[in-house]
Amino acid sequence: MGKYIVAGNWKMNKLPSETYDYVKEVVEATKGSNCEVVCCTPYVCLAPAIEAAKGTHVKIGAENLHFEDKGAYTGEVSADMLVDLGVQYVIIGHSERREYNNETDETVNLKTKKALEKGLIPIVCVGESLEQREAGITMDLIAIQIKKAFADISAEDAKKVVIAYEPIWAIGTGKTATSDQAEEVCGGIRKILADLYCEKCSLEFTIQYGGSMNPGNAAELMAKPNIDGGLIGGASLVAENFAAITKSC
Ligand code: 13P
Repeated sequence: MGKYIVAGNWKMNKLPSETYDYVKEVVEATKGSNCEVVCCTPYVCLAPAIEAAKGTHVKIGAENLHFEDKGAYTGEVSADMLVDLGVQYVIIGHSERREYNNETDETVNLKTKKALEKGLIPIVCVGESLEQREAGITMDLIAIQIKKAFADISAEDAKKVVIAYEPIWAIGTGKTATSDQAEEVCGGIRKILADLYCEKCSLEFTIQYGGSMNPGNAAELMAKPNIDGGLIGGASLVAENFAAITKSC
């Protein structure tokens, strides 16, 4: 329903010295894809990634940002720094950052607002653990994550946000959610957005699925009405696999 966007999340993989050539490979391999193609890279890979993607259809994103403009935050990177480099997208609230780096629904909201203020497109991640799924609280949890992420964000701004539904149990495990499971939650997310904003606005959001998406399952997942692309981990590290996914849109 929203615009199709397939974004790679490299996580802590690839070196700055291999980035330029790899992004050039992605540019070649993804030519003719029927979706927006994004590579989200580690901070230190952003400059060569942007150089390689300049003037092409591929957009570059970061994997995180800080919510303050500037100041005494050793080791952090601001939205202005990303914009200054030419970054266009930023992943916010990935489950790995929620688990290992103290990311909370509150910091996700602050970061989303900051990204929007500075003209970056946030890719906001939500998703349940296996324990939460088995307890039958998936949609309750996702509703809280979405409502808190979008607190104090107008409908006009909200529609610029990409939402990635990533069930934690499917990330890096080879265990993909079935297309029906993924569609059920992505459709549920659209209903939450319709309640928060309006029915018509909810149709404009891009809602991605992420979690062991690969060339073999991408077409079936993205054929579902509420799945508008993917956030790809492992399969984004091999240009041929990533390109096959972008061509499944
Ligand atoms: P995998 O595709 O490796 O399961 O990772 C998904 C993910 O976490 C993307 O953000």
